[in-house]
Amino acid sequence: MLPLAIYIHWPFCKAKCPYCDFNSHVAEQIVSERWKAAYLKEIKYFAERMDKRKVSSIFFGGGTPSLMPVNLVKAIIDTLSEYFIFDENIEITLEMNPTSIEAQKLEGFKAAGVNRVSVGIQSLRAKDLKFLGRQHSAEEALAALKMAREIFPNYSFDLMYARPEQTLDAWREELEEALEYAGPHFSLYQLTIEKGTPFYAAHSRGEFTLPDEDVATEMYELTEKMLKQKGLLAYEVSNYAKPGFECRHNLTYWHYGEYVGIGPGAHGRIGFPRQATMMIHGPEAWLKSVEEKGHGLQSDVVITPQEIKEEAVMMGLRLASGIDAVRFKTATGLDLWSCLDQQKLKACAAEGLIEYTPDYVRPTEKGRMLLSSLTALLLL
Ligand SMILES: C[S@@+](CC[C@H](N)C(=O)[O-])C[C@H]1O[C@@H](n2cnc3c(N)ncnc32)[C@H](O)[C@@H]1O
Ligand code: SF4
Repeated sequence: MLPLAIYIHWPFCKAKCPYCDFNSHVAEQIVSERWKAAYLKEIKYFAERMDKRKVSSIFFGGGTPSLMPVNLVKAIIDTLSEYFIFDENIEITLEMNPTSIEAQKLEGFKAAGVNRVSVGIQSLRAKDLKFLGRQHSAEEALAALKMAREIFPNYSFDLMYARPEQTLDAWREELEEALEYAGPHFSLYQLTIEKGTPFYAAHSRGEFTLPDEDVATEMYELTEKMLKQKGLLAYEVSNYAKPGFECRHNLTYWHYGEYVGIGPGAHGRIGFPRQATMMIHGPEAWLKSVEEKGHGLQSDVVITPQEIKEEAVMMGLRLASGIDAVRFKTATGLDLWSCLDQQKLKACAAEGLIEYTPDYVRPTEKGRMLLSSLTALLLL
């Protein structure tokens, strides 16, 4: 049995960014003792549902987990270590926002067991940071990053590109600057306009436009090329790492491994046959449910083989290394080749969109840019 990953969702931020559709809220007051009790209770609930399993990764995501009190992060890690067996190389990541970083707190997270951080920088341009509704300047973001990397040499940072009015040359310049601060891992996302966000409404009203698709594609290709020169390889659509520093937690998702999702709105995939768990989205409602029932489950269903096939192929093709047939069988119980259309496989390979052997199937660079249509085409 492969080790588990555990995701802990912290749903609060200092301010809500207008592009963001993550489950994040601005709260007037957070009673931290109540939150602590609820997280520990939900951990216990899942621990009792599963055997004492080995855990290879814990990920504090958000929201802004760097706003969590250090003693809460510590209590969560300590409790998890009582109920599960930590892999000796366990990766424990915490997402950070540059506005909530101070050295003393970072040292506290480290002492609690965190060994990797992911910092949300988003842009190094003042005008764009303002447009994105960020609460920090580029200088503040870089100062926070420098502080974080002193304490956590295993760090990553996020930028978003293909922003309104951004040209290819402007992105080249900004990325070059950002690369001076790159560590072993980098996440570079194309800005997407998510339904229900203030950006969605503003974009629909024509208040701004995004670079057209050809420019976005050129930006993507340029990004990949520039990062490769620095030894950061595109191991997934938006993620780059030096070999050996790929985010272990996210690899669990892309390999269709098992993960437990704890906290408001968290998703999980656990057990054989796979159960899909989803926790109540609203922070208050989740809290109440955990206090009353011991968990905040909103739904808990067995996934059908058809759904498993779709999810596992979609996730696996995001990886540059693609899907390994043996690992696929172990993770899903399904034979990879009976999930895929043989004729379409041949046609896509002939067009240079995928490569495959009896052992694996993987998208080429060209294929990775057309991933959703490629996946839909290949699936039976
Ligand atoms: C859940 S956020 C957590 C990071 C942290 N709260 C922060 O903002 O600094 C993870 C990352 O998702 C990316 N992201 C969020 N919304 C996005 C969007 N609409 N388009 C592209 N990337 C997005 C951002 O780069 C962000 O850093
Ligand atoms: S991008 Fe980060 S800081 Fe902004 S609302 Fe989303 S989770 Fe919060």
